[in-house]
Amino acid sequence: MEHLLSIEKIDRKDMEAILTAAGPMKAARGRHDRQPLAGQTWALIFSKSSTRTRVSFEVGIRELGGQPIFLNANDIQLGRGEPIKDTARVLGRMIHGAVIRTFAQNDVEEFAEYSAIPTINALTDAEHPCQILTDIFTFQEKRGPIAGKVVTFVGDGACNVPLSWIFAAAKLDFELRIAAPRAYQPTPELLKRVGGKIICTEDVQAAARGADLLYTDVWVSMGMEAETEKRLKDLAGYQINDALVKLAQPDVMVMHCLPAYRGKEIDAATFESHAMTIFDQAENRLHTQKAILERLAS
Ligand code: CP
Ligand code: NVA
Repeated sequence: MEHLLSIEKIDRKDMEAILTAAGPMKAARGRHDRQPLAGQTWALIFSKSSTRTRVSFEVGIRELGGQPIFLNANDIQLGRGEPIKDTARVLGRMIHGAVIRTFAQNDVEEFAEYSAIPTINALTDAEHPCQILTDIFTFQEKRGPIAGKVVTFVGDGACNVPLSWIFAAAKLDFELRIAAPRAYQPTPELLKRVGGKIICTEDVQAAARGADLLYTDVWVSMGMEAETEKRLKDLAGYQINDALVKLAQPDVMVMHCLPAYRGKEIDAATFESHAMTIFDQAENRLHTQKAILERLAS
């Protein structure tokens, strides 16, 4: 595995290897006998805000023996219009790997192509692969194999997080239901291309019935702030709350990739009663991403 650019492009065997390695990585925290990034410098190049992704990668790189450098994309010449492919060719001669959070998926792919160093997608408008690998690790850690289970995503079904879930469902053989208004569902072309068992519906109750995992994400993703008012109106009702949880399996897990907006995509009481899962999920970003880094470094 050379890069982690998307769940769409990752091989199933790499995905399974990362999911398998994340558990031992978690168990061995603080006493790793291997330092696969020893002597290496990895850059985090971010054009969007981040708490979890930034901190978990900076800590993870250090714990594997490497040095992270954080570059706000606006502080480097990229922000003044230097092309990605030139930035990539310069950094590729100085650093050993890159973790990129930006808008266009193509920018991460172009960086990977021109830099010739391992490149990780830390969120684009199209995908959030590190998040979904972590979410699946977290589900499996608590409930066993995800194959054959039912995952229901509620909210903006066309943003990066549900799109990565779609590709994962087709690869790991679980059922994915997306409950979203028609305009916030993935395109039929994409669903046809991916295959797998993916059901899109406007009926949030039907989507939640019997689910093993209820999952949501913000209604207003980064970059969509101008649409805030419209989105809050359009997506009202596509919320995880107690009534929805009652329709799912009795032991349903509730997850949120965070940050959470209480009273919007999830109500405060449901968030707090599932906070243990949600913050385990946040912590697991560190362990899963260390498994990704190790696989890319070897
Ligand atoms: N879930 C997630 O990626 O969080 P951050 O935006 O804080 O990195
Ligand atoms: N869909 C959200 C995910 C945040 C981690 C966004 O892109 O802002």
